[in-house]
Amino acid sequence: MNVRRMTEEDIVTAASLEKACFSRPWSENTLRESFLDPHYVFFAAEDEDGTMVGYTGMIVVLDEADVANVAVFPECRRKGAGNALVLAMLAYARENSITRLVLEVRVSNAPAIALYEKHGFTKIGLRKGYYEDPTEDAGIYGVEVC
Ligand SMILES: CC(C)(COP(=O)(O)OP(=O)(O)OC[C@H]1O[C@@H](n2cnc3c(N)ncnc32)[C@H](O)[C@@H]1OP(=O)(O)O)[C@@H](O)C(=O)NCCC(=O)NCCS
Repeated sequence: MNVRRMTEEDIVTAASLEKACFSRPWSENTLRESFLDPHYVFFAAEDEDGTMVGYTGMIVVLDEADVANVAVFPECRRKGAGNALVLAMLAYARENSITRLVLEVRVSNAPAIALYEKHGFTKIGLRKGYYEDPTEDAGIYGVEVC
């Protein structure tokens, strides 16, 4: 699995990933606005054929980054893309003096929680009723980057 910085040409695929993965997907416009915002950093995961199978984005504020989304097409899961995307964010953080990554995740999202915990994230809080469609609490997870 190869991970690279996302380009503007990848935004259409990122929008498809959003639709395939989330009940309240980011639109292509939202993705484009975020992509053009210098505080955001996006990565794309591609398979051995160079086909984009996943993406992630985080917003950097001073020395902390908030992971907005990690998404892999359903048919491409369990092949290491999620893993590679989280590793890319951690490497970027290390190289750019970001000391902590934080994120929200649905409390029922066992695959994502397992992925984050595998990379050292621990639960640091709970946001009651944070998600809609369906309404659900968000676990807040964070990891110190070292
Ligand atoms: C979460 C997600 C990104 C994982 O992507 P993936 O490419 O399947 O992940 P990987 O193959 O790299 O797996 C890495 C680790 O994640 C965890 N994991 C992934 N899928 C899992 C599952 N179905 N059940 C349990 N753990 C799982 C495991 O710890 C796994 O490590 P292992 O292979 O050593 O067991 C993917 O399931 C996804 O896109 N889900 C929908 C979108 C989403 O919920 N994103 C997170 C929003 S906060």
